[in-house]
Amino acid sequence: MDAQQRAQYLEALGIDVWVPRRDGSAEAASPASGAADPSRGADADADASASASGAWAALRAEVAACTKCSLHRTRTQAVFGVGDIRAQWLVVGEAPGAEEDRRGEPFVGRAGQLLDSMLRAVGLARGENVYIANILKSRPPGNRDPKPEEVASCLPYLKRQIGLIRPVLILAVGRIAAQNLLGTASPLGSLRGRVHHFGELNTPVIVTYHPAYLLRTPADKRKAWEDLKFARSVFRELTASS
Ligand code: URA
Repeated sequence: MDAQQRAQYLEALGIDVWVPRRDGSAEAASPASGAADPSRGADADADASASASGAWAALRAEVAACTKCSLHRTRTQAVFGVGDIRAQWLVVGEAPGAEEDRRGEPFVGRAGQLLDSMLRAVGLARGENVYIANILKSRPPGNRDPKPEEVASCLPYLKRQIGLIRPVLILAVGRIAAQNLLGTASPLGSLRGRVHHFGELNTPVIVTYHPAYLLRTPADKRKAWEDLKFARSVFRELTASS
């Protein structure tokens, strides 16, 4: 992405500062682009990918039919997630809202548009090396916070998605996503700016604000931009040798 494009995305994000790289060099064309593991044979890759796509389809069907919590009674449909199932980045939000419940895709309302701008500011695009999912697959009525029993029923699905995607980095957007992934009640402010880890794969997690919060509190977009730059630099470190 060139500097002009990035400036446009930052403008869409509502951030009017441009911070040049310390070494003054040109931006990498695609800082977040990924590739298959070059050390694996083509057959092994094909087998793994066939079995992963079977497991993915089975998981998707299970989620669509899930009745583990009472939210299945009020949802229009379960919102499984969207994006590249071999993505190196995983964005985790809270739960579907009204528009997501209607369309069956996460982050499609105004908050989703801002999330897309946030992703573009770090060289990512929906569907390209990013997968987007939520802590809950079903909409809580009135967009209330998820209840602990709902999270307990639904989190195993996200864990299985993570096991199949095996992202390099998880970006937790908002307090609900961060607290539930990290198993903490700490406020979001204290979770920002550090690398946490999630699950059996010990996947690195970085925390930032939820785009819906940023729509209500635009003054904090600058802090979100700091988080995104931090996430991008951690991602680059994690992938530097691969
Ligand atoms: N907010 C979320 O956390 N997730 C969505 O999918 C939409 C809005």
